[in-house]
Amino acid sequence: MNEDGAPDWASYSLTGKVAIVTGAAMGMGEAHARGLAAAGADVVVADIQATLARQVATEIGQRARAFEMDVTSEEAWNQVVDFARQEFGGLDVLVNNAGLIEDMKPLPQVTLADWNRIIAVNQTGTFLGMRAAVLPMAARGGGSIVNVSSGWGITGSAQVPAYTASKFAVTGLTKAAAQELGGLNIRVNSLHPGYTLTPMLAARLEQFATTDPGMKARFAERIPLGRLASPQEMTAAVVFLASDAASYVSGLQMVVDGAMLAGIFPDRAAGTTQFVREQLGRAGSGGQG
Ligand SMILES: NC(=O)c1ccc[n+]([C@@H]2O[C@H](COP(=O)([O-])OP(=O)(O)OC[C@H]3O[C@@H](n4cnc5c(N)ncnc54)[C@H](O)[C@@H]3O)[C@@H](O)[C@H]2O)c1
Repeated sequence: MNEDGAPDWASYSLTGKVAIVTGAAMGMGEAHARGLAAAGADVVVADIQATLARQVATEIGQRARAFEMDVTSEEAWNQVVDFARQEFGGLDVLVNNAGLIEDMKPLPQVTLADWNRIIAVNQTGTFLGMRAAVLPMAARGGGSIVNVSSGWGITGSAQVPAYTASKFAVTGLTKAAAQELGGLNIRVNSLHPGYTLTPMLAARLEQFATTDPGMKARFAERIPLGRLASPQEMTAAVVFLASDAASYVSGLQMVVDGAMLAGIFPDRAAGTTQFVREQLGRAGSGGQG
């Protein structure tokens, strides 16, 4: 903030910062890697899909390096932090974005293997990432960790028990770490995307393409803004949380979902939308009020 109370616009820039984004080979993670680099950061594009990660890093250019890693591996976390240090000199921003969702099925049919796979990536991967980031960030005088949770990290969702449990865990881990790491000037926040058009969501829509082809339209109907999100709309939140403009933001559940979780009767708004459009129509044809 400047003396006249205006924001210091330079604080939105990420110039000089080094970021690791997991799950950055496609979907939201790719958008985050591109967006952080566009805002000035040097970015490690980390993903289990090495070829795609290299492609994304090459397209970003000088500011990016690809790193092949499985977020469930402790060793890989030590290596990626060393890599960020060697390539770019340290670590300021970690976006724990890599995530998986199980195929929808009734609770009695969920296997222990299904459960363990999702918990390992979404929950344990996020814990390992935060743990690995503490020392390098503290050495730079602080940092910003963004943990990607979900709307299903705030409210329940049927037929995806492991995903829901893992995303609630991410919400809780974020709050615990925000409390614990504030003294080191490390801010920790969770991002809760709504339905976002990525390969993950495309796969879910594909799964129901024959049995429930209207699913996408029904998703949109439940969202007051009336549409699904683009990955870049999530990136805008990530860039803000990563930046010094968010210097007092920690422990936040940042919900970016078109108001989907804001209430349970979105259909009631249809009357208001229609009323206002009619008024505008009348105003447009000359008859105000
Ligand atoms: N798409 C949505 O509507 C939505 C909504 C809420 C939350 N989310 C969350 O946002 C995040 C990104 O989702 P997305 O839709 O972009 O998913 P996506 O499936 O399109 O992309 C996920 C990426 O994570 C990588 N990945 C998976 N397992 C990994 C592992 N073990 N180690 C390293 N990388 C791994 C994949 O290779 C892929 O590049 C996830 O955490 C997801 O749960 C998505």
